[in-house]
Amino acid sequence: MHSSLLSPLAIKNMIIRNRIVMSPMAIYKADNEGYITSRIKEHYLQRAANGVGLIIVESTYVTERGKSKGKQLGIYSDRQVPALKSFTEEIKRTGCKIALQLNHSGSLGQKELLGVSPEAPSALLHPVSPYDMPEELNEKRLRQLVNEFGDAAFRGCRAGFDAVEIHGANGYLLNQFYSPLTNKRRDSYGGTREKRLRFLLEVIQKVRSMIPSTMPLLFRLSTGDRMKGGLTDEDTYYAAPRIVEAGVDIIDVSGGLRGSRPEEMDNTEGYFVPLSREIKKIVKVPVIVTGGIKKTEFAERVLLNGEADLIGIGRALLEDPEWAKKI
Ligand SMILES: Cc1cc2nc3c(=O)[nH]c(=O)nc-3n(C[C@H](O)[C@H](O)[C@H](O)COP(=O)(O)O)c2cc1C
Repeated sequence: MHSSLLSPLAIKNMIIRNRIVMSPMAIYKADNEGYITSRIKEHYLQRAANGVGLIIVESTYVTERGKSKGKQLGIYSDRQVPALKSFTEEIKRTGCKIALQLNHSGSLGQKELLGVSPEAPSALLHPVSPYDMPEELNEKRLRQLVNEFGDAAFRGCRAGFDAVEIHGANGYLLNQFYSPLTNKRRDSYGGTREKRLRFLLEVIQKVRSMIPSTMPLLFRLSTGDRMKGGLTDEDTYYAAPRIVEAGVDIIDVSGGLRGSRPEEMDNTEGYFVPLSREIKKIVKVPVIVTGGIKKTEFAERVLLNGEADLIGIGRALLEDPEWAKKI
């Protein structure tokens, strides 16, 4: 009998051979300018060759001011495309599909690294990692930024990725726009829930317009900030159908303004499963759930119960590149 974990899934023109997704995990092994290196290639190739269905390559900065750490992978220049293309070709030869996570760190950027102040929805220190006071993005720069996300997505297509993912969670720029803790704007990008979501929708629409209509677009959605005064479950249920309407084909569930592994949840197996179950009730697109999943029996049950369509595996795949092969 086929295990549902091993059944394929077609989303637009991408057929994933099983339900195992390597969740995006930054290993910071690019060169100083964000170009891919052989160490990064080997890291992913090892997991692709050992049975993973879809790899979502780590947080990659779309513009130089969106970088969060040294040696982070970047896709801000056309010159980065050729090396990424030979990388995706190697991965695809294993039968594994490959997506790229597009990100901007907003107020999680640091002046020492960027050479300028970070930029963010509001001039506020990040509530979790208060590095350097960011500059508030003006409307002109916002329009540029939307285009920079779009250009990066287009480079991702040219580099042969099967899909792209927009990072909307874990305290980075898009999460900062949606969260009332980090967005205190008084213009049409701040205030009400609808206005705080506006920038996220503009980025989605732009990226959607820059990639083929047959190519899946993933969005890493924050299921709440898990901090007092921050985004709540209700904000998630408000955002989910709207991001789908704007062009998202797969929702990748994460959460936490402090990061993807909220301390109070991290001991619970599949800690975002209750949220993905609820999201699945309100949207028709496939949902990836990640967080504290290590056992195949648990993952299988999540799929059989219809609580998610794809299972994101993070740390278990860092620890054991053969995690998927052993099933
Ligand atoms: C070392 C490390 C780096 C990570 N980098 C990213 C990242 O670049 N983008 C992202 O969305 N999440 C990132 N995450 C979060 C993971 O994708 C995942 O959501 C989290 O680790 C929980 O899943 P797990 O319990 O299977 O590890 C990272 C996690 C770890 C441990």
